[in-house]
Amino acid sequence: MTDQSLKKNFEARFKHPPEIVGYAPGRVNIIGDHTDYNQGFVLPAAIQMGTSIAASRRDDNQVCAFAEGFTHTIDQFSLDKIDYCHHEMWRNYVRGTLQCLRQHNNEFSGMNLYIDGNVPQGAGLSSSASFEIALLKTVVDLYSLDLAGVDAALIGQAAENSFVGCNCGIMDQLVSAMGLENHAMLLDCRDLSIKDATLPAGVAILVVNSNVKRGLVDSEYNSRRAQCEAVAQIFEVAALRNLSLDQLCDGQSLLSDEQFRRARHVITENGRTIKAMAAMQANDLPRLGQLMAESHASLRDDYQVSTPELNGLVEIMSTVIGVSGGARMTGGGFGGCVVGLMPEQKVAEVTAAVKQTYPQCFGLEPDIYQCTASMGAFRC
Ligand code: GLA
Repeated sequence: MTDQSLKKNFEARFKHPPEIVGYAPGRVNIIGDHTDYNQGFVLPAAIQMGTSIAASRRDDNQVCAFAEGFTHTIDQFSLDKIDYCHHEMWRNYVRGTLQCLRQHNNEFSGMNLYIDGNVPQGAGLSSSASFEIALLKTVVDLYSLDLAGVDAALIGQAAENSFVGCNCGIMDQLVSAMGLENHAMLLDCRDLSIKDATLPAGVAILVVNSNVKRGLVDSEYNSRRAQCEAVAQIFEVAALRNLSLDQLCDGQSLLSDEQFRRARHVITENGRTIKAMAAMQANDLPRLGQLMAESHASLRDDYQVSTPELNGLVEIMSTVIGVSGGARMTGGGFGGCVVGLMPEQKVAEVTAAVKQTYPQCFGLEPDIYQCTASMGAFRC
């Protein structure tokens, strides 16, 4: 929906025009998965799909929120008593985000919100982070609050962790808040420092949705994180980031085979992410592609978060891309998307191969998005 129709819809519902529209994007992760909550490295980019929110202030403490495509009713609640909602999950993103914002800064009162987004849900492109960060951007501008992008990301993450119930890391919220056009972002999830990397010229980011729906909360995401934390505890380190591959191998007898493989993924993925940043800076797409292939194999075999459909898509895409780039599953896994990096000229051929072969092999239609690295949250 355009900003104009969002404003119109707001007005039709709330009987007055909105004061502002805030926006925040989803993201695609180029490399570095399941590393963020281990204080490691990630290399995502914000994409051109996101969440827009039209809003006006209220002089009471009530929040009235309508989310296009999620519901036919308004979620109304008081900022003074924010409860978890058991029957409509989207409401908890509004409630949790506002509750966590209030714990940080409570210089705002009620609001009317009309929310609309086009990040495919359950696809591993961070529709939920885009929702949280768009809401924070909207409230911050509506009430002229002072909130840095990093703090917005931490509040969004806290909402997921403490209210929604997903123990996600910081990657999605941070890139949604702070992404830069034409850039990927190398994020050090220990100190939250950011290095921006220009995407190599002539490179296309092709995202293919396997259309195997994933649900982070329901999936094994939280249990993967718990496994990593258990290994860190056994080695008496704060996080797996602090463990080298040699140290892990030396202590292998302390671990089950599964624990060992989970930790090996995290440690090697951190290394690949740093190397991928260097490859990106050197404009070396073949090297980047090689690292993406290794990352996929590690997520598939050691971390075990891939699916036959994701593996199939990676194979179909890699066969066409050859050594000119690469493809891997992206995000939390258990369904969702594959990301491919390739020279622009390969896009048509890769797209055709996916459209032809994927349905034949898996009986599912893929959705294909050519993504552009886009700007993080802004006021429209
Ligand atoms: C989800 C989480 C992120 C990150 C990825 C896996 O997107 O929200 O914090 O852990 O999975 O890399």
